[in-house]
Amino acid sequence: MLQGKKIVLGITGSIAAYKSIFLVRLLVKAGASVKVIMTPSASDFVTPLTLSTLSKNEVLMDISNGVSWANHVQLGRWADIMLIAPLSCNTLAKMAHGQCENLLLAVYLSATCPVVVAPAMDEDMWHHPTTKANLDKLQSFGNHVIPVEKGELASGLFGDGRMAEPEQIMDYLREHFFLKSPLSGKKAIITAGPTYEPIDPVRFIGNHSSGKMGLAIATELYKRGVDVTLIMGPGNLEMPATGIAVRRVNTAAEMYTTCHELFPAADIAVMAAAVADYTPVHTATEKIKKTTAEGKDTGMVVELARTRDILKSLGEIKGKEQVLVGFALETSNEAAYAKGKLQQKNADLIVLNSLRDEGAGFGKDTNKITIFSKSGEEIAFDTKTKTEVAKDIVDTIIRLHYA
Ligand code: CTP
Repeated sequence: MLQGKKIVLGITGSIAAYKSIFLVRLLVKAGASVKVIMTPSASDFVTPLTLSTLSKNEVLMDISNGVSWANHVQLGRWADIMLIAPLSCNTLAKMAHGQCENLLLAVYLSATCPVVVAPAMDEDMWHHPTTKANLDKLQSFGNHVIPVEKGELASGLFGDGRMAEPEQIMDYLREHFFLKSPLSGKKAIITAGPTYEPIDPVRFIGNHSSGKMGLAIATELYKRGVDVTLIMGPGNLEMPATGIAVRRVNTAAEMYTTCHELFPAADIAVMAAAVADYTPVHTATEKIKKTTAEGKDTGMVVELARTRDILKSLGEIKGKEQVLVGFALETSNEAAYAKGKLQQKNADLIVLNSLRDEGAGFGKDTNKITIFSKSGEEIAFDTKTKTEVAKDIVDTIIRLHYA
């Protein structure tokens, strides 16, 4: 897949630079031509000699060595991909602000090819708002960010910030640039998590949804080159990888509005959220007290009204090319209910999970699904991790709609 591809690999000053040695080996082994550019501080961590030997090309570091001048424009145009791994906090900040003080930054600014970065830093630096703002800036320029991993860090701490492993970087390149996914360039919206319907400023009606299934689907679609927006309900839900746009919502009504705002431009919509079916008719502006000033029990009756069914409403406006996927969580008559939902909500696929199945349910890391399609297929899968289930769902979308 990488045979004959031209990669400029930028290496910056980070302990993770040792992984770049393996990365160069993997790239060369896969048939790519690799030209390495190092920032001056990268040579504190790995030697140019090792990298020039493995890449079979001279390692570049300076814009000029007093005798000749490295043509940064030509390097940026030569490459099919510019990959910067590891990307330090320092170089990230300079890239975000257009600084140009070394060859790596000059090539970055003149690159006409896609730019992919694999950040590496300590956890506290990773979570600093400046880092997030700088990465957002890079993404707004169209650069691709390979998410950091959780693990042991050079500081001895354990947390987010480890650079992705070389094998994962290779997978990312293949999946995003060289595999030609049938979903490349498509847009998707995914809903995930619960909604909270407020009774008063303190209390709400909610449910146990962890958002894990929606997050796994969003991640899988993103890996296949889809431009993904995750519409996430409230609670302590796990956030997705950088690269996936997130819209936070609280109530079913907010989720409805956000879905309708984004659906017209989407190719695929997956409604994985556990949306509240009922919401209080009135939300008290002050906390409701359980006793009056005289100490008398006030009692509590909450009048509820049905929320609008988002999936159904999208089914009503769905265009011919749009793919709409819904979920059904049932405890009995599963297949009949799932088929009913396909019809009533005009969905293309309904993913059924039954609470009678051991591996399925709220908060679990596994799920057991059966997919029902509009075309009449009924595909049952074994119990799998939610990541694998997401792959099955995305593969089914491709097979039935994009193959
Ligand atoms: N859904 C939605 N908007 C709602 C309620 C549900 O979009 N207000 C979506 C869910 O995201 C899911 C599907 O509809 O994709 C679930 O269908 P639903 O009819 O709500 O299933 P149940 O809650 O299981 O319904 P029932 O009361 O029929 O068991």
